[in-house]
Amino acid sequence: MLGDSGSVITPNAPRAGTKNIACAYRIATAPCRFGARAIIAAFFNPETYVWPSPGVGHALQNSMRVLVTGGAGYIGSVVAEQLVKDGHDTLVYDNLGKGHRGAVVEGAKFVEADLTDGEALRRAFVEQGTEAVIHMAADSIVGESVANPSKYYRNNVVAGLALLDVMNKCGVRRCVFSSTAAVYGEPRRQPVEETDPTRPTNPYGETKLAFEHALRWYECAYGIRYASLRYFNAAGATPDRGEAHDPESHLIPIVLQAAAGKRTHVEIHGADYPTRDGTCVRDYIHVADLARAHILALSILDQRSAIYNLGCGGDGYTVREVIGVAREVTGRDIATHTGPRRPGDPAVLIASSAKIRTELGWSPQFQDLRLIVESAWAWMQAHPYGYGK
Ligand SMILES: NC(=O)c1ccc[n+]([C@@H]2O[C@H](COP(=O)([O-])OP(=O)(O)OC[C@H]3O[C@@H](n4cnc5c(N)ncnc54)[C@H](O)[C@@H]3O)[C@@H](O)[C@H]2O)c1
Repeated sequence: MLGDSGSVITPNAPRAGTKNIACAYRIATAPCRFGARAIIAAFFNPETYVWPSPGVGHALQNSMRVLVTGGAGYIGSVVAEQLVKDGHDTLVYDNLGKGHRGAVVEGAKFVEADLTDGEALRRAFVEQGTEAVIHMAADSIVGESVANPSKYYRNNVVAGLALLDVMNKCGVRRCVFSSTAAVYGEPRRQPVEETDPTRPTNPYGETKLAFEHALRWYECAYGIRYASLRYFNAAGATPDRGEAHDPESHLIPIVLQAAAGKRTHVEIHGADYPTRDGTCVRDYIHVADLARAHILALSILDQRSAIYNLGCGGDGYTVREVIGVAREVTGRDIATHTGPRRPGDPAVLIASSAKIRTELGWSPQFQDLRLIVESAWAWMQAHPYGYGK
C-alpha cells in the first residue's frame, strides 16, 4: 500500500529493453490510418468510439515501469493514459494540489504525495521498480510566477532536485522532463530552434531552465540521462481527459468557456501586433501528440540525453483565428473585448520541431486547429463540471 490513496502496488510488469520502445513508436508515428472525419465523429460518440491506440501490441511486449509526476494534471493524465494503453506499468505520483483524482487513468497505480516527500517517493520507486520518470509536476502560470517567484523556485527547482536526488539514490537513471518553450523568452527568430539562446523573461521559464541545467550536471555526476521537451501551448482533449484548471489561463478553454456561457467574453490582449490580423500568433499542440512525444522520448535514454522542441509545425494561429474556429465549432457567438498589450507578450511564438521529427520520427497527428478545438469542446460538453460531480 502506498500513500494515502489506498492504491495497491501490484506486481511489476516484466522488464524489457527500452530500445524496443523506439520500434513500437516508429509504428505509432506512422501516417494515421484513421481519417480526420472519423476522429471528429468519434469525439461526439465517445461511447462507440475506440480511440486509436498506436503500437499497443508491441508496447505490451516491451513494457517499462514508468513513474509520472503530475500524472493527475492536464498533460500528465494523458501521458499516463497513453502509457497504460501501450502496456507500460504506470505509476502516477501527484499531490493533487492542482490535479484531479478523477483524471488518473484506470490501470495506473496512484500515490498522492508531494515531490518533497522523499520517503513516499523512495517507496514508490522501490515498490514499482521504477525504470524511468516522466516529470510533469510543476507550477506553470507565468503571471503567478512573476508575482510569487518563491513558489516557483521552491516547486520547480527545489522540489525537482529532491526528485532527482531520490532517483539517484534508488538507481533510477532515466528522466523525461516536461520543460517549456518559455525558456527562450522573446526569441529573435521564428520558428525557435533548440540551439537558439535561452533568455527567460519570467520566473516560470527561468525555473524550468534552472532544472534543465541541473539535469545536465546530474547526468555528468550521476549518469541520469534526460530528455527535455520544450513546447508552448498544450491544447485539446482525449475523450476521457481534458483541461480543468481553476483559474484557467489558457486561451482555448477560456474561449470555449465563453461559448458555453461560463464567462461573458474573451479578453484580447493587444490587436496592434505586426501579424496578419494584429493579434498574437501562437503554436497550439494537441495534448495527445504531446503525450506521444513524452513516451517516445523514453526510447533514446539508453543511448544519450537530448533537448527537443515540440510544435504544431505550421504558421501558428492568431488569437482571432482561434476565436473564429471556436465560433464555427460551437455554433455560438463569442463576445470579445480588445484591451492593451500585456507586457512581455511577443508577437509570434512558434517552435520548430524539425529535430524531434528527424531524430525520433515524431510528428503531430492533430495539427489542424479545428481538430484541437473540436476535441476540447466535446470534452467540455461531456464534462461540464470538469472532474467534479
Ligand atoms: N499546459 C501547457 O500549455 C504547458 C506548456 C509547456 C509546458 N508545460 C509543462 O507541462 C507540465 C504539465 O502542465 P499542465 O498544464 O498539465 O499542468 P497541471 O497543473 O494541470 O498539472 C501539474 C500537476 O502536477 C502536480 N504537482 C505540482 N507540484 C507538485 C508537487 N510538488 N508534488 C506532486 N505533484 C505536484 C499538480 O497537482 C498537477 O496535477 C508542467 O511541468 C508545465 O510546466 C505545460
